[in-house]
Amino acid sequence: MTAVHATTDALIAAEARHVAHNYSPLPVVAASAQGAWITDVEGRRHLDCLAAYSAVNFGHRNPEIIAAAHAQLDAVTLVSRAFHSDQLGPFAEALAGLCGKDMVLPMNSGAEAVESGIKVARKWGTDVKGVSDSTIIVARNNFHGRTTTIISFSDDDTARRGFGPYTPGFRSVPFGDADALEQAIDGNTVAVLLEPIQGEAGIIVPPDDYLPRVRALCTEHDVLMIADEIQSGLARTGRTFACDHWGVAPDVYLLGKALGGGVVPLSAVVADRDVLGVLHPGEHGSTFGGNPLAAAIGRTVVDILERGEFQQRATDLGAHLQARLTALTGRGVVAVRGKGLWAGVDIDPAHGTGKQISLRLAERGVLVKDTHGSTLRFAPPLVITADEIDWAVARLEEVLT
Ligand SMILES: Cc1ncc(COP(=O)(O)O)c(C=O)c1O
Repeated sequence: MTAVHATTDALIAAEARHVAHNYSPLPVVAASAQGAWITDVEGRRHLDCLAAYSAVNFGHRNPEIIAAAHAQLDAVTLVSRAFHSDQLGPFAEALAGLCGKDMVLPMNSGAEAVESGIKVARKWGTDVKGVSDSTIIVARNNFHGRTTTIISFSDDDTARRGFGPYTPGFRSVPFGDADALEQAIDGNTVAVLLEPIQGEAGIIVPPDDYLPRVRALCTEHDVLMIADEIQSGLARTGRTFACDHWGVAPDVYLLGKALGGGVVPLSAVVADRDVLGVLHPGEHGSTFGGNPLAAAIGRTVVDILERGEFQQRATDLGAHLQARLTALTGRGVVAVRGKGLWAGVDIDPAHGTGKQISLRLAERGVLVKDTHGSTLRFAPPLVITADEIDWAVARLEEVLT
């Protein structure tokens, strides 16, 4: 073992000893990062094609976001919601405007936004719709986070097994099947919760008529349409929200990940006053939710999104990425799915598992993550260039041949 590798090995061993084994990371130890590149403790550079599951959409240490964070660090970082801050109102106004809604409920992690969206839907069901025993319809193979309630309606046995008792009140129907959804709606249904494009399931894009039909069914039956855009939103697919591809405006947006600019955890439930107005003091909260540091960063993220440059990059470079990956079909690649700079690549199992391929890619300086055994997920920071995409796809071609 060289002294250089010893640094990596020692740091990984320290994690293994003292960090709960709830992840299985690639053996790369980041020391710094800029744009689309991560430099490890050995000084080796890796092209990040995961972007922290889309939390780093605008690039590692995006200069505009880092400047906003620095400025806010020198002013005030946390007061809790016991007091006001000069950052929360402007952030909420900007984010609500971006979503075309009235109000924002600021939280921290994505799972918290989902939990909060579920609570809001249930409270709306009780107070507005007059339903006491409410049901929320979810999609099969969903991924919305890791809390006890959220895993209660997951189909992923590993995520679920051993963590019961589970939270009742959810009904699951196949993703992409609007007829099944229509049949599942009854008088107790208060909401439909879904990812417009399923991320963890392998970047599953629904049929074109699906989301418009979900929207119409929700309107017809007085049911809230809740779009979890935590991974699909904020420019990843080439639009501000994935729902925009189908001209659909949900009643509730759940946002997270990139909203915090890759700097802080920042998530939000965004909806009109007739929905979020059901919350009153004491009914919900979070000490860190909407803190001044996160709000300053979030407002900068909204400013960036208002300019549209990253949506355009995701559209143009996404077409390039999808074309380059599709060209590998039949040469180790079975299928490519996706929208914008978000691609699910099914690998022919004869060439190895997704995990094995991602390990071989990491050795060559390309970081991607496998999902569901044989799928690789490409979701690079949206600052990536066409040349860098070509380089990453060439490395994939190399490990497949
Ligand atoms: C669609 C979706 N919702 C919710 C979450 C949970 O977010 P977090 O890990 O920040 O709790 C994720 C995370 O991958 C996600 O992809």
